Amino acid sequence: MSDQKPSIAVLGGTGDLGGGLARQWAKAGYTVIIGSRSAEKGIAAADALKSEFPDADISGGDLVETSTKADIVAVTVPYAHHGATLEQIKEAVQGKIVIDTTVPLRPPKVGRVQLPAAGSAGKEAQELLGENVRVVSAFQNVAAHHLQSDHEVDCDVLVAGDNVDARETVIGLAAAAGMKAWHAGPIDNAAAAEALTSILIQINKREKAHSGIRITLGK
Ligand SMILES: NC(=O)c1ccc[n+]([C@@H]2O[C@H](COP(=O)([O-])OP(=O)(O)OC[C@H]3O[C@@H](n4cnc5c(N)ncnc54)[C@H](OP(=O)(O)O)[C@@H]3O)[C@@H](O)[C@H]2O)c1
Repeated sequence: MSDQKPSIAVLGGTGDLGGGLARQWAKAGYTVIIGSRSAEKGIAAADALKSEFPDADISGGDLVETSTKADIVAVTVPYAHHGATLEQIKEAVQGKIVIDTTVPLRPPKVGRVQLPAAGSAGKEAQELLGENVRVVSAFQNVAAHHLQSDHEVDCDVLVAGDNVDARETVIGLAAAAGMKAWHAGPIDNAAAAEALTSILIQINKREKAHSGIRITLGK
């Protein structure tokens, strides 16, 4: 990849988290491609974002088409549809970075940690897509609410993945979206960030908040 900013497909960019990330990346000058199960819905979401950022390069389409076009693919769909979405894009994302934002929530008990047998949704994604895809797990602990507006995002991001350079790329994308992100180690460690979200959901309920996390270095 050159010095030019990579293009990013946001699958599920029609929804809450994906819409927020797409908005932040478009604002930061990235080429954003909104992927949806319905090409028309993806194009409509892209047109809406384009009206907010007329100078940005924003387009939309179906999941395979947008994954094929983009340099980097972010998956922002509910866990129940994670596996099916990844199966569809498996060929299109070979050789690419896939950012997995999924929290393996199992409604109705979303405030309870219920990680899958593989350990995490991120690990499942890496196993399903294969070693030629650099899966990076991130953004599980940021509330979509913060990404959909222009206030400061008071939240850090834990970035897990087996490829250090790919993690570094995603840390840069988090910074472009206004967040400090941290190397959190291999994809096995995605379990920790995914589990934390159920704790944040508990806090949100009690505090009527959109909570996040902060890492302190204590130096
Ligand atoms: N919301 C948050 O604050 C937040 C924070 C951190 C992490 N996350 C994680 O980010 C992911 C997305 O969360 P979200 O709240 O943004 O979800 P969402 O708004 O409910 O859904 C996102 C998109 O997923 C697609 N989708 C919905 N139902 C589907 C189905 N039956 N089959 C396939 N695709 C379907 C839809 O896109 P199309 O109809 O266009 O295909 C939808 O716009 C989840 O894994 C969640 O755990 C969310």
